[in-house]
Amino acid sequence: MKPLIGGLCILLSISCEKETERISVDEPAQRVRDYIRKIPGENDPIPEALADRGEVLVAYSGCYDCHRREKRSKGPAFSDIAERYPVQEVYLDMLARKVITGGTGSWGSPVMTPHPHLKLEDAKIMVTYILSLKRQ
Ligand code: HEC
Repeated sequence: MKPLIGGLCILLSISCEKETERISVDEPAQRVRDYIRKIPGENDPIPEALADRGEVLVAYSGCYDCHRREKRSKGPAFSDIAERYPVQEVYLDMLARKVITGGTGSWGSPVMTPHPHLKLEDAKIMVTYILSLKRQ
């Protein structure tokens, strides 16, 4: 009798482990996918010098008050933004305009303040840097 109960416990604990494993591994992945909502598309090459300039502009424009490179803060992580959008003129333009006008709703309910003093050209260079942070 005893070995049987022991065997049952082992079986139970294995299936329980599998269950918790499934929940802890798959579910957050699903949540991350729902958050990122990756848009499929080809990536245009980004000249390194342009990304470098964008990095400097971002550092001097107060973007790090709300954003961090790899982690969500008040705003989404730059690397998450990079995961969503393909590097294409249409997205660079749209995102640059969004930085200037500010807004909400793409990543949940927090609001990005407007940056009306930024030139569209500079905002685009900043966004180019942000999209260069795609995880390989
Ligand atoms: C006051 C906080 C704040 C500041 C300052 C800020 N952001 Fe944001 N940013 C946010 C929030 C919040 C979002 C998410 C908005 C949304 O869900 O639509 C966001 C979203 C973005 C996005 C993605 C937009 C989209 O529609 O996917 C980009 C790109 C971006 N920010 C770039 C910048 C840059 C560049 C700067 C500096 C010039 C900057 N942000 C400064 C809070 C901020």
